[in-house]
Amino acid sequence: TMLAFRQASAFLVLFLAAFLPAPHCAQDPAMVHYIYQRFQVLEQGLQKCTQATKAYIQDFREFSKNISVMLGRCLTYTSEFKSAVNNLALRVEHAQREVDYLEYLREADMCIESEDKMLAEKLVQEAEDEKKIRTLLNASCDNMLMGIKSLKIVKKTMDRDGSWMKDAVSNSPKVYFLIGSRNNTVWEFSNMRALMEDSTKPGPRKLILTHSWQGTGQVIYKGFLFFHNQGTPNEIIKYNLQKRTVEDRMLLPGGAGRALVYQHSPSTYIDLAVDEYGLWAIHSGPGIHGHLVLTKIEPGTLGMEHSWVTPCKSQDAEAAFLLCGVLYVVYSFGGHGPHRITCVYDPRGTISEEDLPNLFFPRRPRSHSMIHYNARDKQLYAWNDGNQIIYKLQIKRKQPLK
Ligand SMILES: *[C@@H]1O[C@H](CO)[C@@H](O)[C@H](O)[C@H]1NC(C)=O
Ligand SMILES: *[C@@H]1O[C@H](CO)[C@@H](O)[C@H](O)[C@H]1NC(C)=O
Ligand SMILES: *[C@@H]1O[C@H](CO)[C@@H](O)[C@H](O)[C@H]1NC(C)=O
Repeated sequence: TMLAFRQASAFLVLFLAAFLPAPHCAQDPAMVHYIYQRFQVLEQGLQKCTQATKAYIQDFREFSKNISVMLGRCLTYTSEFKSAVNNLALRVEHAQREVDYLEYLREADMCIESEDKMLAEKLVQEAEDEKKIRTLLNASCDNMLMGIKSLKIVKKTMDRDGSWMKDAVSNSPKVYFLIGSRNNTVWEFSNMRALMEDSTKPGPRKLILTHSWQGTGQVIYKGFLFFHNQGTPNEIIKYNLQKRTVEDRMLLPGGAGRALVYQHSPSTYIDLAVDEYGLWAIHSGPGIHGHLVLTKIEPGTLGMEHSWVTPCKSQDAEAAFLLCGVLYVVYSFGGHGPHRITCVYDPRGTISEEDLPNLFFPRRPRSHSMIHYNARDKQLYAWNDGNQIIYKLQIKRKQPLK
């Protein structure tokens, strides 16, 4: 509502600016002054939510009508100002529509006496939220994705679903392999070469977790495996891979885990991601019409830092990842190629969709089980139809906001 008010105010200023250069049509200079005053009063009236607002709106309608009549007379005076006057008449009409809209908002809103106070509180809250988000997402990270440069198949297995990754933060060369979408066995390879060569010695270490995971959304962050605990709708376990114990657990709120995150990933109800800003969960849920929800999690305490309902939908999606605090969602129609990023969500609004090129992945026979960005080596780790794939990326610095 406040936004509508601001828009209306901005519009009124515009309106005045257009009116002033054509004083010839006004009967005398006092008329211009009078109009100015009326708009000021109207503006002030619109900023308050009182019973009087309705009266202002009524008044403004009549006033606009009067101006229209007056402008009609102007038309007969000279033809010189014809286009200027036409323009003005249009603007009056526009103002009326604007006011109609405001009135509609008024009626839809609860317009109670303490609204001034509530409005002020809401503004303070909004400012605080904005500041909080700025602090939360304040890393020196201004990269954005420009394209997929190349694909490298690192390994082929028979397992259609699974996930694989390195620790997203620490410098460990170890590579982890989680086969299938429900299991408790993690394979730990000493490095990428050991994984690629499938070497017999030293073979991978087999870690049996105390709980099974659900889906393919696991991440490893500073030696901890974070995963969706199978058999629960929304529990995330933080597992200490060294001690092989559960370090902590949390419940993701907001109906998380009651719906698939991505339509074409039929076992993942909670996806996790790590980028330059830390740990994130991506989920969907009831009551948000298939939109993806992005939640920032503090990995130390497992506290929820902030949550955003994004415009990106789960329908036709197969995977998503975060890069520099921006969510990139990969879609494919019917679950097969082309795989394309057609929805991008930036909680800070530093990237707009127009800035983005067409983001296509190389064609693959099936949809991806998972795609994770690794901020350390700035590439994507993906699992596609049993293949473990690394996508090298083309990245550029964000344009400063206009
Ligand atoms: C509109 O014009 C009528 C007749 O000229 C006048 O009585 C009325 O006060 C005017 N209304 C406004 C809001 O200026
Ligand atoms: C963001 O970080 C920079 C330095 O890293 C600091 O100077 C600045 O105050 C921080 N801004 C916010 C909003 O926290
Ligand atoms: C779990 O994974 C292991 C290999 O990683 C496999 O041998 C086992 O059959 C799987 N268990 C289930 C229940 O799928």
